[in-house]
Amino acid sequence: MIHAKNIHKFYDQLEVLKGVDLHIKKGEIVSIVGASGAGKTTLLQILGTLDKPSSAVKENETSLVINNEDILKMNDKSLSKFRNLNLGFIFQFHQLLPEFTALENVCIPAYIAGKKVSETEKEAKKLLEYLGLSHRINHKPNELSGGEQQRVAVARALINKPDVIFADEPSGNLDTHSAENLHQLFFQLRDEFGQTLVIVTHNEELANMADRKLIMVDGQISNP
Ligand SMILES: Nc1ncnc2c1ncn2[C@@H]1O[C@H](COP(=O)(O)OP(=O)(O)O)[C@@H](O)[C@H]1O
Ligand SMILES: [Mg+2]
Repeated sequence: MIHAKNIHKFYDQLEVLKGVDLHIKKGEIVSIVGASGAGKTTLLQILGTLDKPSSAVKENETSLVINNEDILKMNDKSLSKFRNLNLGFIFQFHQLLPEFTALENVCIPAYIAGKKVSETEKEAKKLLEYLGLSHRINHKPNELSGGEQQRVAVARALINKPDVIFADEPSGNLDTHSAENLHQLFFQLRDEFGQTLVIVTHNEELANMADRKLIMVDGQISNP
């Protein structure tokens, strides 16, 4: 499902990723843990096609293949389309659109993919209900608590049933109960739809529930 080879990232002179190799199978739930500054977010952004790796020395070339697509060779337009249809993101900073309601925010990726309004709204309501938000669907982000906004962002990430979900501290600002619900949802998605999940987390329970726990140390995965 995801094959990353020799991923490097430099910010000026600072080498943040030092040749990461990673293989993730379809339907696998992988957690990534590690100290702050280890490079977890940078790696997730690159795996999620939101950022590009720095070029590496020739003889040991960098590559990133997701769902059999050679990501680093795609142009911006095909990459945007690929991302919309195949990848879901749950990040620390959820960036909901302020002028739209919770329901509308969840529906937008489906509209971009050309899906019908009625089906999309039905699916969005189902997801919001599962996440405990059925009473808040017509509220705008600034009328929702941080945890509620985070759950809306989760529903938005799931609306197109992406093959791969990338999550960066998804339960970081949720209360214990909502966090547990979200963690259960991850496993349910995998069981029902064979979704692949890559989750950066400081939540030890979630990290240990994963099929595989990768530990990032100083720009490398110490237990690949
Ligand atoms: N856009 C950027 N420009 C410069 N340095 C950055 C940038 N993003 C991250 N870094 C640096 O890269 C290192 C790894 O950051 P990050 O991937 O966010 O780590 P983590 O998610 O593991 O805490 C840190 O030292 C951080 O300061
Ligand atoms: Mg981070």
